[in-house]
Amino acid sequence: MDRVGAWRRIPAGDAVGMRLRITAVLVGIVLLVLLVQDVPLVNHLQTVERDRLVTKLERDAFIIAGRVEEVLQAGGEAPDPAIVGIIERYEDSENVSVVVTDSSGAAVFGPDFELGEDFMNRPEVVTALEGRPSTGERNSVTLGTDLFFVAVPVLSGDDVVGSVRITTVAAAIDDEVRNRIIGLGAVVLISVAIAAAAAAVLAWTVTRPLKRLDEVTQRLAAGDLGERADEAEGPPEVRSLSKSFNDMSSRLEQLVARQRAFAGTASHQLRTPLTALRLRLESLASSVEGTPQERDVLAAVAETDRLRRMIEGLLLLSRAEDAAVAPEAVVLSTIVEDRAAYWEPLAAERSVVISWDAPPAVDVRAVPGGLEQIIDNLVDNALDVAPAESTIRISALLVGANVEVHVIDEGPGLSEDDRDRAFDRFWRGEHAAPGGSGLGLSIVRQLAEAAGGWAELRAAPQGGIDAVVGFRRP
Ligand SMILES: Nc1ncnc2c1ncn2[C@@H]1O[C@H](COP(=O)(O)OP(=O)(O)OP(=O)(O)O)[C@@H](O)[C@H]1O
Ligand SMILES: [Mg+2]
Repeated sequence: MDRVGAWRRIPAGDAVGMRLRITAVLVGIVLLVLLVQDVPLVNHLQTVERDRLVTKLERDAFIIAGRVEEVLQAGGEAPDPAIVGIIERYEDSENVSVVVTDSSGAAVFGPDFELGEDFMNRPEVVTALEGRPSTGERNSVTLGTDLFFVAVPVLSGDDVVGSVRITTVAAAIDDEVRNRIIGLGAVVLISVAIAAAAAAVLAWTVTRPLKRLDEVTQRLAAGDLGERADEAEGPPEVRSLSKSFNDMSSRLEQLVARQRAFAGTASHQLRTPLTALRLRLESLASSVEGTPQERDVLAAVAETDRLRRMIEGLLLLSRAEDAAVAPEAVVLSTIVEDRAAYWEPLAAERSVVISWDAPPAVDVRAVPGGLEQIIDNLVDNALDVAPAESTIRISALLVGANVEVHVIDEGPGLSEDDRDRAFDRFWRGEHAAPGGSGLGLSIVRQLAEAAGGWAELRAAPQGGIDAVVGFRRP
C-alpha cells in the first residue's frame, strides 16, 4: 500500500454546500424569469383593468339610460319603483353611485343626491347632455376623493332627454389591480417552490453519485486498490466517469501487483549469487591476509553485506505491501522484552544501556513479525548515533484505544525536514553510519501502516530522536 499523503478529504459539508448552490442558482434563474415576465405584466394589467371597468360602466350606463328614456321623455318625473329598485341593487352590488338628470341637468334620480339638484356644474354631465359619452377621473370636492366617472346621454330619437352618470372611487380600480397582483404573486411563489423542490431533487441526483465516486476514490488513494465505483448509478456522464475510474483502478492494481511481484522476485533471485560472491570474497580475503590488498577485499565484503541488507529490506517491503499478510494480535510486553534482551549485549559493546518499559498483558495488532522488525530497525538506528554512556529507552504506552511504542536516543537528532525525509526509501542522513541501505524507516512505516498504525520521528527532549510507532489494539 503506497501512502498518498497529499490526498485531501472532501468534508461531507461540501457536498451539502454544492447541493444548496445548485438549488439556489436554479431558483434564482426561475425568479429572474418570472420577474422579467411579471413586471411589465403588472403595468399591462392596470391598463386592462381600467379599460374593462370603463367598458362595463359604459354598458351599464347605457342600459340604465334605455330604462329611464321613456320617463324622461314624458316630463322628468321619477322613474317607476321597479326600475328604481333595480338601480339601487346595482349600486349596492357594484359599489358605485348612479345619478340620472333631465335635459336641464337637474337630478331626477340618485339615492345619494337630492332630487332637483343641479348637475350642470359637472363637466361630464354637460358633455353627456351635448350628446357625447365621457369617461375620466377627477377629484370630487363633495366626497374629498378621486372619482372615476362615466356619463352617457339618454337619447330619445335624436333628442337628448337627460343623462346617466355612474361614479366609483378611483381607489376601487387600484384595489382590483392589487387583488390581481396578489394572485400573480401567489403564482410566482408556487412556481418558485416547485422550482426549488425540482432543483433540490436534481442537485441530489447529480451530487449523490459524485459523492459515492469521491468516497471510492479516497479509499483507493488510501491504498485499497480493489475499490471499484458503481457503473450503474447516476446520469450518463457520471456513469461514464465511473467506468473510466474503474478501468484506471484495474490498470493501477495490475501495475502495482506486477511491480511488487518483480521487486519480490528480483530481490529473491539476487540473494543466491550475492551469497556466492561473499563466500568467494571471504576466501580471497584469507588468501590475501597480511598483504596490501586485504583492506580492499575486506571493504568489498562490507559492500556485499550492505547489498544483502538492501535486498533483504526490499524483500521485506514487498511482503509488507502484500495485502495477503493479515495483521494478528501479539503480546506487546513479551516482544519488547525479547528485543531489548537481543540488543543489550550489542549496545553494551558500545557502552550504551538499553532500558525498556511496557504495560503487561496488552495486545496490539501487527503483521506477523512486524513489531519485532519495527523495534529492531528503530534500535539499530538509535545505536548508530547513541554516544557512549547514553541510554536508549524503549517504552510502550497506552494512548486511548491505541498503543504508542517509543524508541528514544540521546544522539544528535535530525532537523524537522530530515525527520520527514528519513522515511523516504534510500534516504540517508549526512552523518548516517556506514553500511545502511536507507530502507529501515520506510520498512517501519510500511509495517505499521499495514496493520492500521502509523510511524513518525519526533525531537526527543534530551536532543536525540523520539521514534514513535502507533498500533491499534485488537
Ligand atoms: N535515531 C536517529 N538519529 C539520527 N538520525 C537518524 C535516526 N534514525 C534514522 N536516522 C537517519 O535517517 C536515515 C534513514 O534511516 P533508515 O533506518 O531508513 O536507513 P539507515 O539506517 O540509513 O539504513 P538501514 O536501516 O536500511 O540499514 C539514516 O541514514 C539516518 O541518517
Ligand atoms: Mg536504519
